[in-house]
Amino acid sequence: MTPAKRSDGRPARLVVVISGRGRNLAAIMRAIDDGRLNARITLVVSNNGQAPGLQKARLAGIGVASIDPAGFADRKAFDEALATRIAAEKPDWIVLAGYMRILGSAFVQRFAPRIINIHPSLLPRHKGLHTHKRAIEAGDTRHGASVHIVTAELDGGPVFRQGSIAIAADDTPDTLADRVMSQVEEALYPAALHDLISGRVRCSEHGLVHDGQPLTEPLHENYD
Ligand code: GRF
Repeated sequence: MTPAKRSDGRPARLVVVISGRGRNLAAIMRAIDDGRLNARITLVVSNNGQAPGLQKARLAGIGVASIDPAGFADRKAFDEALATRIAAEKPDWIVLAGYMRILGSAFVQRFAPRIINIHPSLLPRHKGLHTHKRAIEAGDTRHGASVHIVTAELDGGPVFRQGSIAIAADDTPDTLADRVMSQVEEALYPAALHDLISGRVRCSEHGLVHDGQPLTEPLHENYD
């Protein structure tokens, strides 16, 4: 991957939104540290104050915030508080990395098309939860992850980059999840962010554009 450069040279401002371990967050932090991504994470925010990913960010000197949904009357009120905190960072991109709550349409509309998500399946196959188990049960031969622009439809926004590996005969949902994370997601998400930050992939009024051409299907890489 060539170093990402914004046209004005300024590192892209990222807010990363997490709920759990933060392995994707850590992969993005590594890509920034070793110069593969011209970006700065200005804030890691979570709906879960105990998320191990928050500690990873703290140790790296990145600002963190947690907002507990229990303190709000409903999802809309929680989303508003989250949006206000995020907007204060003036982010170029809002990066969902294992954020396990659904974002309401007001939140999405406020920031679209600058919210990005990684989903552990080859979308449009296996939207939603338990993707690894469902891929095995469906007899899929390959499985992986997709990076997409977030729209109000859950896991339904335009996908611009995917990566896959072969499902092994002895894979269980856990072994497959682990391999998708370590072999695919940890490389895929930084690569996809590089696409956006470098301007190689853009969102236009007519859809996604890659190197000036309409992107008719996701960029796909085999990771095995
Ligand atoms: C990843 O599999 C990601 O694709 C999904 O949730 C999981 C989060 O893992 N959205 P982590 O918190 O990044 O370790």
